[in-house]
Amino acid sequence: MSISATDFRQRIGQLGDLPTLPHVVQKLTSMIGRPNVSAEDIGSLIEKDQVLAAKVLRLANSPFYGFPSRIASVPHAVVVLGLNVVKGLTLCATAYDIMKDAGMVQLWRHSLGVAITSQILGKHLDMKNPEEVFVAGLLHDIGKVILYVKWPEVGTKIRAANPTGDRPMFEVEQELYEVSHADVGGWLANAWHLPTALREPILFHHQPSAAQEAPLQTAVVHVADILVKGMACGNPGDDLIPPLSRQAWELVGLTDETLAGCIAAAADEFLAIHDYL
Ligand SMILES: [Fe+2]
Ligand SMILES: [Fe+2]
Repeated sequence: MSISATDFRQRIGQLGDLPTLPHVVQKLTSMIGRPNVSAEDIGSLIEKDQVLAAKVLRLANSPFYGFPSRIASVPHAVVVLGLNVVKGLTLCATAYDIMKDAGMVQLWRHSLGVAITSQILGKHLDMKNPEEVFVAGLLHDIGKVILYVKWPEVGTKIRAANPTGDRPMFEVEQELYEVSHADVGGWLANAWHLPTALREPILFHHQPSAAQEAPLQTAVVHVADILVKGMACGNPGDDLIPPLSRQAWELVGLTDETLAGCIAAAADEFLAIHDYL
């Protein structure tokens, strides 16, 4: 039996066991962008979750950050790395767990690539909060975890409708179910109470011109997604490079030179971080 579009939307609405964001991470996410949060607040929050604290320390001690002496406590990590980096690391560790548990390590690699590239583009654009687009990039395809793992028959049907892989996945999903992985991700972002600056890039990463409140963040994640697909780093489930929105490309404003620099920086950073999760 196949699922109709209406059933499908209902199932999304009723889904009981969503991938959950641990309580600590939920609190941290709501703190993103809040300027008055102290290093002690963040440090003591993360330390309440020992597994997470251990992961943050492992990342903080990776050669990427190159600290000469060992960072042994989360508050110390917050002081030397900065609040925003530690928040990013925490979310990174969580997204990794969700995708690894779902058997989607290739999607994780793709997502990490998009996160890193988004952050580099964010810095290039002088964004106030480049770590925000890092997190948005990390979570942009999170809807796939539900579409392709929670409901394997959905994934099978979508793949059968696109045997040669020459159409973008979101288009085929939309056609069969009237819902794409981006919609599912946006819905998940709602359920997780993520801020608009994260929700819109997740929801609109395949149609960036639809973003209302976070058009720049959405454009950045859209462009990063396409660059990372072009770099063949990880695999989000198809080989096709989705169409680039000219409007988003112009918002991001890369020249040939800055583009090459951003890609090189992203590749370096990807290699340095990805073994430490
Ligand atoms: Fe996508
Ligand atoms: Fe993607």
